[in-house]
Amino acid sequence: MSTHLAFGVDIGGSGIKGAPVNLKKGAFAQDRYRVATPHPATPDAVGSAVAQVVSMFSPSKKTPIGITFPGVVQHGVVKFSPNMDQSWIGVNIDDVMRDYVGRYVHTLNDADAAGYGEFLYGAAHGRDGVVFLATLGTGIGTAVIVDGEVVPNTELGHLTINGLDAEEYAAASARERHDLDWDEWAGHLQTYFAEVERLIWPDLIIVGGGVSKSHENFLPKLALRTPIVPAELLNGAGIVGAAAGAAHFRERQESKDKAEAKRAKSGAK
Ligand code: BGC
Repeated sequence: MSTHLAFGVDIGGSGIKGAPVNLKKGAFAQDRYRVATPHPATPDAVGSAVAQVVSMFSPSKKTPIGITFPGVVQHGVVKFSPNMDQSWIGVNIDDVMRDYVGRYVHTLNDADAAGYGEFLYGAAHGRDGVVFLATLGTGIGTAVIVDGEVVPNTELGHLTINGLDAEEYAAASARERHDLDWDEWAGHLQTYFAEVERLIWPDLIIVGGGVSKSHENFLPKLALRTPIVPAELLNGAGIVGAAAGAAHFRERQESKDKAEAKRAKSGAK
């Protein structure tokens, strides 16, 4: 990556966190700053909270800024987000953030950011083939990375398992809500991941989300054909992945623009 510094912001249900990221190391360049997620978490309230986080660091105009969102963000527009305020649906989040932050930002799904971060710096570092990441939290976020490219907005946390939305059945919140012990919850995860591997045949599965810190309690109980490992970036995954994703997006955009300019120039001759 030609840029060495980018800025990442992670929008979560309880906190909005941001930090400058050293892209060579895949680590925060300064301690992160956090504000509580406003309630209701409407576009305006969240936009202003994100601006507050970014202004703590005043990144230079050249620094790419990436933001994670817990839902489907298709070409900048929020299409689906079961755990966020529903006033987001149909809103162009890149535009909202540009208005509040004062310049272009790139927004991506939170699990996609985490998956990209794990591919660049963590449990799937440099891994070819199909990597599947699931973040187990309030919901289940998923990322599919194929030879280092993220297939955006896979929503495999909403497969139907035993008649339930997988998120209701196997997220970390489901363990707490149904008061499941580790063995019982591992049983739910077994059913969930067996269904995922039946459908997409990954080469590696990564489990992220806060609960992955306690992976000894449940990963050894799973019997899957695919190797399954805990995420390595933990708390930093969203911020680091968002920053790296924004830098990657900008590079791709710049090379497309260059190719376009070249084509226009040769056409004009
Ligand atoms: C959403 C996903 C998101 C995940 C984790 C799910 O409910 O549908 O888009 O990645 O929660 O926040």
